[in-house]
This record gives sequence, structure tokens and C-alpha cells, in this order.
Amino acid sequence: MVTAVTHPLVQHKVSLMRDVHTGVKEFRELAAEVSMLLAYEAMRDLDLSPTHLTTPIQEGDFPMLSGKKLALVAILRAGLVMTDGILNLVPAAKVGHIGLYRDPQTLQPVAYYNKLPADIAERRVFLTDPMLATGGSASAAIQFLKDAGAQTIKLMCILAAPEGIAVIERDHPDVEIVVAAVDEKLNDHGYIVPGLGDAGDRIYGTK
Ligand code: URA
Repeated sequence: MVTAVTHPLVQHKVSLMRDVHTGVKEFRELAAEVSMLLAYEAMRDLDLSPTHLTTPIQEGDFPMLSGKKLALVAILRAGLVMTDGILNLVPAAKVGHIGLYRDPQTLQPVAYYNKLPADIAERRVFLTDPMLATGGSASAAIQFLKDAGAQTIKLMCILAAPEGIAVIERDHPDVEIVVAAVDEKLNDHGYIVPGLGDAGDRIYGTK
């Protein structure tokens, strides 16, 4: 299932990210802001329980978050800026990291770094990867999370290509994809079109 967040603020900020003239500082800030807005939507179904407290006027039962705790998991390196942004909303969430590279022979994603919260199986997981392109890395990361016991996983992306969405829907039909925009296609180099270029390079100012 794909949830496209069509809110005007999100669309405006994503267009600024697409602009080739947007510099590193602004791009990074926008990525964090868009991620917060995506999280607002992705976390719409978090559980609430009435909690007894006293306002300056009177006592009462008021809704507060309950149920499973949260884990944010970044696919290195571009997913980091997304988890940093989302932590502004849910500062008590635990954070995991998954690093993958593509084996030049098999072209399959291979994990070179993984560090997850020990209780990942008891947490709702929000996996961050700004660009869902071929879907290979995201699908492998989801499988890794499932192998570690994670049961409820949402994939949060800023842009997605239809090709990447199809791979996640095929491999992990239980995983909801929350995305700001679904673009046209992938080009021959695996870039999303029209896209925003290489998200990692634009976030970190590398080439
Ligand atoms: N990764 C990126 O950073 N950009 C793309 O367009 C595709 C994959």
C-alpha cells in the first residue's frame, strides 16, 4: 500500500528540494522538514490511551500515546537526515542503522553495517530511505528487519519510482510506503526522473 502525502506544504518543500539551485544547507533542512511531515502521516494510526492528569483547571482523562514503542531505522547514509528530522517529533524513539552496498558480481544488496535496537521485535518500525529507486536496498533492509523480528514496518521515502514501489509491493505486501511524491520512472543510470539527483550527495555536499 502506498500513501502519498499530498499536503501543499510537503509538495512545496519537495519542489524546492528538486531545484538544482538549492544548496546543501537548505536541502538538508528541507529533507528533515519533509520527513517530519511524512511522519505526521505515517504515525496517524499510533495507539492512544486515556491518561489521568490535572490541568490548571480540573482533573480528567486525556489521550496520550500508548502501545508499542517506536524505532526509526535509517538506511545509510541518506536515511540519516530523515531519522534526525523525525526525532524532533518522537525524541524517545530508538534508532537503528542499516548499511548496504551492491555486490558488483551478483548486483545483490549486501549488509556491511547493522545496528538495531535489541527489542526491535516489540517496536513499530519506521524505515527511512529518501529515494525509493530500484527498491533493491529497501527490500533487503525490510527483510533484514523482519529476520530480526520486526513485525510492523512502514517505509518512509521522499520520492519513489514506480519500479521501486512494485518491488516492495511484490516482496513485502504488508509494508506501507509513505512517500511525498511518486515520480515518472528510473533512467538508465538508476536515477529517479525527474527526481532530485543523488540525495546523499545533496545532503552531505559530496560528489
Ligand atoms: N538514489 C538517489 O539518491 N537518487 C536517485 O535518483 C536514485 C537513487
